[in-house]
Amino acid sequence: MDLGVTALDTSSNYFDFRSHQMLARTAGDLLPKFTLSTKVGYFPGPDGAEHSLDPIRLHSAVEQAAKDLGREPDLVFLHNPEHSLREAAPHHHDLLAQACTALDAAAAKGLCAAWGVASWDPAPLLHLIDTTAPRPAALMVRAGLLVGARTLDAADALINAWCPGVGTVWGMTPFGGSTSAPVWDRIDPRVFLRNNSRLSRVQAAFRTAYHLPQVDSVAVGTDEPAHLSELVGALAGEVEMRTVQEYRNLLRARSRGQPD
Ligand SMILES: NC(=O)c1ccc[n+]([C@@H]2O[C@H](COP(=O)([O-])OP(=O)(O)OC[C@H]3O[C@@H](n4cnc5c(N)ncnc54)[C@H](OP(=O)(O)O)[C@@H]3O)[C@@H](O)[C@H]2O)c1
Repeated sequence: MDLGVTALDTSSNYFDFRSHQMLARTAGDLLPKFTLSTKVGYFPGPDGAEHSLDPIRLHSAVEQAAKDLGREPDLVFLHNPEHSLREAAPHHHDLLAQACTALDAAAAKGLCAAWGVASWDPAPLLHLIDTTAPRPAALMVRAGLLVGARTLDAADALINAWCPGVGTVWGMTPFGGSTSAPVWDRIDPRVFLRNNSRLSRVQAAFRTAYHLPQVDSVAVGTDEPAHLSELVGALAGEVEMRTVQEYRNLLRARSRGQPD
């Protein structure tokens, strides 16, 4: 809050399925001051986490989230629906529509203010969208320089098909989960900035993530307040869109015929 951050994103399965309780216990008094989003779709199972799009389980998970957090979340994402849909053919079309209807009903009942879809791999969802089923108010997709051409194109197509111009689009994992991966030593993301001298490499990578694909917000993970401050400072940077376009063309050319 001191840094001007106003949104917190979590998930029912983070922290060994205890993230909601931990948040409420650690910062319950502050939670009303943040916009709070979470995700449902993973459930505790015999071998760890299991994925499910069962409408009854999803509805209960939203109910449980509000109870454990001590307040209704502002946004609940259906977490990686593609995970279950891969195994569900040929009924996956109906399954996705039923899951969307369940989250829409939870929002209508006041268990959350709005609902969305978070997808790690949006490509399989593209042909499953039922335009007669409720539409998500927000989408969350991977963003940043480490996202491959196929996923970027699929994310753009999903945004256009599901909530063109009306929904909020979130990016996630702008560093692909780690800033110490060897790839970050080999590139200088400041080439994507208009005035590239003022920001650090990490700041430039974060700022550029807002345009790969085009998103309104980016969910980033950090345990270090100084890192968060650095990322907030990055928002002042300006990205050169021609360079982003050129980069996407290069990614497409390189990945032609290869998976991400
Ligand atoms: N749908 C899904 O399946 C899925 C999966 C994973 C993540 N997500 C979403 O994406 C969000 C972020 O993902 P993530 O945390 O896995 O990956 P990430 O944000 O790409 O990377 C997190 C890493 O970046 C480091 N970092 C952040 N700021 C830094 C800075 N200024 N300088 C140096 N290092 C910095 C953090 O280290 P420090 O802690 O040291 O700062 C942390 O190790 C999650 O909260 C979630 O919303 C979704």
